[in-house]
Amino acid sequence: MKKVKIAGREVFPIGLGTSNMGDNADKFKQEVEAIRIGLDNGVQIIDTAEMYGDGNAERLVAHSIKPYNREELFLISKVLPSNASRKRLPTSLEQSLKRLNTDYLDLYLLHWKGNIPIEETIEELEKAKSQGKIRSWGVSNLDVDDLEKIMNLPDGIKCAANQVRYNLGDRGIEFDLVPMMNNLEMPLIAYSPVARGDRFGANLTKQKVLKEIAEKHQSDIFQILLAWCIRNGQTIAIPQSSNTTHVIENVKAAEIQLTQQDLDQLDSISPKPSMKQPLALW
Ligand SMILES: NC(=O)c1ccc[n+]([C@@H]2O[C@H](COP(=O)([O-])OP(=O)(O)OC[C@H]3O[C@@H](n4cnc5c(N)ncnc54)[C@H](OP(=O)(O)O)[C@@H]3O)[C@@H](O)[C@H]2O)c1
Repeated sequence: MKKVKIAGREVFPIGLGTSNMGDNADKFKQEVEAIRIGLDNGVQIIDTAEMYGDGNAERLVAHSIKPYNREELFLISKVLPSNASRKRLPTSLEQSLKRLNTDYLDLYLLHWKGNIPIEETIEELEKAKSQGKIRSWGVSNLDVDDLEKIMNLPDGIKCAANQVRYNLGDRGIEFDLVPMMNNLEMPLIAYSPVARGDRFGANLTKQKVLKEIAEKHQSDIFQILLAWCIRNGQTIAIPQSSNTTHVIENVKAAEIQLTQQDLDQLDSISPKPSMKQPLALW
C-alpha cells in the first residue's frame, strides 16, 4: 500500500467521510465506533465540514478522536462559500476548531465556489496558516478553469488539494482535471468513492466483471471500487460509513493491487472519458 503525499505529509490513502453523521443521538455510539475502528486500523484522514449537520459532524469527530494522538491524525474541514470572506472566514474557522476541540486543522477547504472573490478567500486562508490555525488549505468542487485561475494568483500555488466527486461511475475528471492536478503534484481527494453505496444509478454492484474481479481478490465490490479510486498513488478516497464492518473492509481495500488486466476490464464497464465532461457534483 502506497501512502499519498498531501500538504507535506505522507498519509494512508483511505480516509473517513462524515456527511450525514452526528445528527441522530440513537446512532451516536455506533458512529463513534465506526470512526474509531477506522483510526485503529490505520486511517489518518477524517473529512468533515461546518455544513454537515450544522456542526454536528464536527462535534462527533471531536468526541471520536479524544483518545487518539492529534499529531497522527489529518483533520479536514470546509468553509461554506458564503463564509469565505475577510469578515466571516476567521469566525467560521474559530467555530470549527472549537467544535472539533482542536487547535488546528491539517487542511481547510473552500467547500465550493461562491461569490466572494477567491483572492480574498486565499488571503484569509494564508493568514490563518501563518497564525497556526490551519496547516494547509485547498478547494473542493473546482474544475480546470477555476483551478487555473487560482494557480495564477499570488499564493495560489499553495493550494494543497482539490476534493471532487470521483468513482468508477464518475470518471469525467480523468479527461483534464486529473492530468492537470498530476502535473501540479496536487493530490485529489475523491468524495463519493463508492458511488454512495451504488445509489447514483450506475448499477455498478450488478456488473458481472466487478463481481469476478472482487472474487479474484477475495474482496467485495466496494473494496474494488476503492482500490480503483486510489490506484495512481495521488488520490485519497474518503468513503463514509457508520458500519464498523464496512469501515474495516474499506480500510483493507488499500492493500488490494489491481492488475493491468483488472483495470482494462473495469474500463470496459465504465470507459475513460474521451471528451470534456461537466464536473459531477454532490
Ligand atoms: N466536498 C463535497 O462537496 C462533498 C460532497 C459529498 C461528500 N463529501 C465527503 O465525502 C464523503 C463520502 O462521500 P458520500 O458520503 O457522498 O459517498 P460514499 O462514501 O461513496 O458512500 C457512502 C454510502 O456508502 C455506504 N458504504 C460505505 N462503505 C461501504 C461498504 N464497504 N459496503 C457497503 N456500503 C458501503 C455507506 O453506508 P453504511 O453506513 O451502511 O456503510 C453510505 O451509505 C462524505 O461523507 C463527505 O465527507 C464531500
